[in-house]
Amino acid sequence: MDWKNKIDQDRLPEHIAVIMDGNGRWAKEKGKPRVFGHRNGVKSVREVTEAAAEIGVKYLTLYAFSTENWGRPKLEVSALMRLLVETVYQETNTLMENNIRLQAIGEIDKLPKATYQALLDGIENTKDNDRMTLVLALNYSGRSDLTKAAQNLATQVAEGKIAADDISPELISNHLSTAGMPDPELLIRTSGEARISNFLLWELAYAELFFSPIFWPDFRKPDFYQAIVDYQQRERRFGKISEQIA
Ligand code: FPP
Repeated sequence: MDWKNKIDQDRLPEHIAVIMDGNGRWAKEKGKPRVFGHRNGVKSVREVTEAAAEIGVKYLTLYAFSTENWGRPKLEVSALMRLLVETVYQETNTLMENNIRLQAIGEIDKLPKATYQALLDGIENTKDNDRMTLVLALNYSGRSDLTKAAQNLATQVAEGKIAADDISPELISNHLSTAGMPDPELLIRTSGEARISNFLLWELAYAELFFSPIFWPDFRKPDFYQAIVDYQQRERRFGKISEQIA
């Protein structure tokens, strides 16, 4: 199926979020260590980034490491952190050639020093690119991001800078690590799991959810385009009724 050709360019999601899942199971099926799955997952990161940029998506956010992932075996965590460093440095040229800006959300300053530095370099080197923004969610969780926003706003109220009544959904959005980005209209999760797993809890309020059975290392451009076609066939009502939308 030529999914790409079925995409309606006038109704493209501006922001797509992805929970890349199934690397471990993919590797296990092949009798390989979990890290082999993560390494092959990088190919899918490249494919999906290219696919999104090619059709004109403006923001692509990938859930690369959650605050809960620290609980994984030490060796897996350190391999993932090294893989991130490698990938960011290796892919910076491609990001430059394709005019893609790198950004990160989550508490990246608490990552190992080399990983943090690689991200800062990647972000700095690509900061003037404006075709698409690739956002890596790292040491991220929706609840901690919301907690930090609440603490920040409470401090501003305590200091008399704002009144409690000034706190609106917009003000909350502006205090999240995704401030300035549009909310994702589409969330894709791979590997057959149907959960949000503490990802972008506030921002996904009205997102359409697409669950693909494919393990992340096997996820390719057509699979990504299929999710967009599926999204475009849905009716987004935002709490209203069909007739009001028409
Ligand atoms: C989920 O699969 C995947 C991760 C927690 C890590 C994702 C990382 C990469 C694809 C590599 C580097 C990424 C970038 C952005 C450079 P899992 O381990 O939870 O798989 P399982 O559910 O089968 O165990």
